[in-house]
Amino acid sequence: MGKTTVSAFAKRRGAGEKLVMITAGSAAESAAAYAAGIDLILVGDSLGMTMLGYDSTLPVTMEMMLHHAAAVRRGAPDAFVIFDMPFMSYQTGIGDAVRNAGRALQEAGSDAVKLEGGTDPELIRQLVASGIPVLGHLGLLPQRIQTIGAYRIVGRDEAAAEELIAEALALEAAGAFAVVLECVPEELGRRVTETLHIPTIGIGSGAACSGQVQVLYDTLGLSARTPKHAKRFAELGETMRAALAAYAAEVKNGTFPAAENTFK
Ligand code: KIV
Repeated sequence: MGKTTVSAFAKRRGAGEKLVMITAGSAAESAAAYAAGIDLILVGDSLGMTMLGYDSTLPVTMEMMLHHAAAVRRGAPDAFVIFDMPFMSYQTGIGDAVRNAGRALQEAGSDAVKLEGGTDPELIRQLVASGIPVLGHLGLLPQRIQTIGAYRIVGRDEAAAEELIAEALALEAAGAFAVVLECVPEELGRRVTETLHIPTIGIGSGAACSGQVQVLYDTLGLSARTPKHAKRFAELGETMRAALAAYAAEVKNGTFPAAENTFK
């Protein structure tokens, strides 16, 4: 499978082809996602919660993201990999943002970066002008949990919906190649998708979006809690617990290691 490029995404949206994105945080996960034919792999800062045990994405640092993104790249050398810029890696000024996004491409081998929010199109313009493809992210913005207070649907009233559409247009004008829409009502997901020329990638934003993104741990049944917008396509958490219990039992009762696991 050849590597998908930024310019291909708009074409594929134009052809009515849905884009599929999944998060990954390790080489094993990205290898599986690539082998499954997933179009875009997001090294999401949600890995702070799924893989690292934090209760929000705020503790995630550039160093953590670089470590995981480099592993994701090693697992899938030809995949299109997007680096999620963590809290405080781009909010402190355009210089910091360009430097940190540059590290994502240079040190982790990512193809693009994602940033939350639509209030600073100049930041997006500078990144794109520096040669760094940008994926926008509107709707629910988990890095703002301390000010928004809860993870909830965004854009239910007309004023909020119009504000979000204006932000999406500003991101497109600034050069973003696509926009993630997180937890907006289905109708708003459709309106944004019909308004923009670039693809929308929804998570909890309805089927009219140009594509979908999901958190791998939710999709595989590894999360303790499944959000309404997610579907567990497997129960790997349960499979893992059962396999480890069988291993422990066999060590204790002496049936593992057996002759075939032993060097003579
Ligand atoms: O970090 C993440 O996993 C994300 C997705 C929810 C889009 O930003």
